[in-house]
Amino acid sequence: MGLAGPSYPKRIYLSTPHLGGGELAYVQQAFESNWLSTAGANLDAVERKFSELVGLPAVALVNGTAAMHLGAKLLGIREGDEVVTPTLTFVATCNPLLYERARPVFIDCDRASWNLDPQLLADFLRRRATVNRLPKAVFVVHFFGQSADMDPILETCQRYEIPLLEDAAECLGAQYKGRHPGTFGDVGVYSFNGNKIITATSGGMLVSPHVGWVEKARFWSTQARDPDPHQNYVHSEIGYNYRLSNVLAGILLGQLEVLNLRVQQRRAVAFRYRDAFTEIPGLEFMPQAPYGLHTNWLSCFLIDQTRFGLSRNELIRQLEVSNVESRPVWKPMHTQPLYQGYECVGGAVAEDLNRRGICLPSSSSLTLEEQQFVIDRVREIHIQSKDRGC
Ligand SMILES: Cc1ncc(COP(=O)(O)O)c(C=O)c1O
Repeated sequence: MGLAGPSYPKRIYLSTPHLGGGELAYVQQAFESNWLSTAGANLDAVERKFSELVGLPAVALVNGTAAMHLGAKLLGIREGDEVVTPTLTFVATCNPLLYERARPVFIDCDRASWNLDPQLLADFLRRRATVNRLPKAVFVVHFFGQSADMDPILETCQRYEIPLLEDAAECLGAQYKGRHPGTFGDVGVYSFNGNKIITATSGGMLVSPHVGWVEKARFWSTQARDPDPHQNYVHSEIGYNYRLSNVLAGILLGQLEVLNLRVQQRRAVAFRYRDAFTEIPGLEFMPQAPYGLHTNWLSCFLIDQTRFGLSRNELIRQLEVSNVESRPVWKPMHTQPLYQGYECVGGAVAEDLNRRGICLPSSSSLTLEEQQFVIDRVREIHIQSKDRGC
């Protein structure tokens, strides 16, 4: 198929950082105080503010992956342990399991929210309980800005007394029945990577309701140096260099001030696409589960190739020619070369979402003109494909 069509003069990216304006003052304070380090007033303040936001103690880390790793260690995950995790996620959810030589068991998502299927989880744990082979822990991922359905997931985990870690890297600002995803389980993890709803260029946060767990993570994150009366460097456990810098904490402080606005803006972008595409056959908007607030961190659609006129891959290719970045929904973990050979419960739903799902430019800073260009291109590409009879 020919790849003609207008090209936008400036590349339209999928999801870009969007400064609020307050960041530089905090960064400046870090410079002026000379706390260009993994300690300082910005770090203290950002942990306090994040704690106030979600209602749990918090420790700021270099990124969400480090937070996942320390979360896995807090749950006591060790070599050979099995851990349940959704197959539809970004690889950083499960890589920390491999760091610890543990074994993921993947579970499919449901169509209602694209999150971990609570029924599949309940069935799996019931089967495992009967053969006395319960997994060590469950990881749940809040997918693309929408919370998983936590009530049935919590009920199942509590029934079998299995600890729960929530990967809320993509879900800051969302709600589940009025509460923050990431605050229901034993550990919650957030990411401030450059493509997230707010960013510190890179950064992560770990929260926990358990007394002492956040302090333990903080201890590990700064090389696990034992207290010593002579300030000697004494180590009895493996530590990591996972603490966020005080400079980046300043960026995050500024970003937290605009979190609610960013949620509104991401949602507005998503609903503008949804409304503009109602006339186009074969484009299905990502479901908005009734139990909470979806941030629509990424604006996603499923493509029905027969009705739309061309495949998801073809649409990505044609948008690319027009200088528009789009991308597939995550490739499920059970289909990754890295994760061959691990058990997967179901998987067909995640495979279908990966095959047909497209994420369109979703930045909160996307201008109306840029978004209109994307909308017009999608419409034209659809019409041209129909005319060509593809
Ligand atoms: C679901 C999920 N988990 C974990 C991460 C890792 O976060 P980071 O990039 O901050 O390490 C990300 C994103 O990057 C993510 O999307």
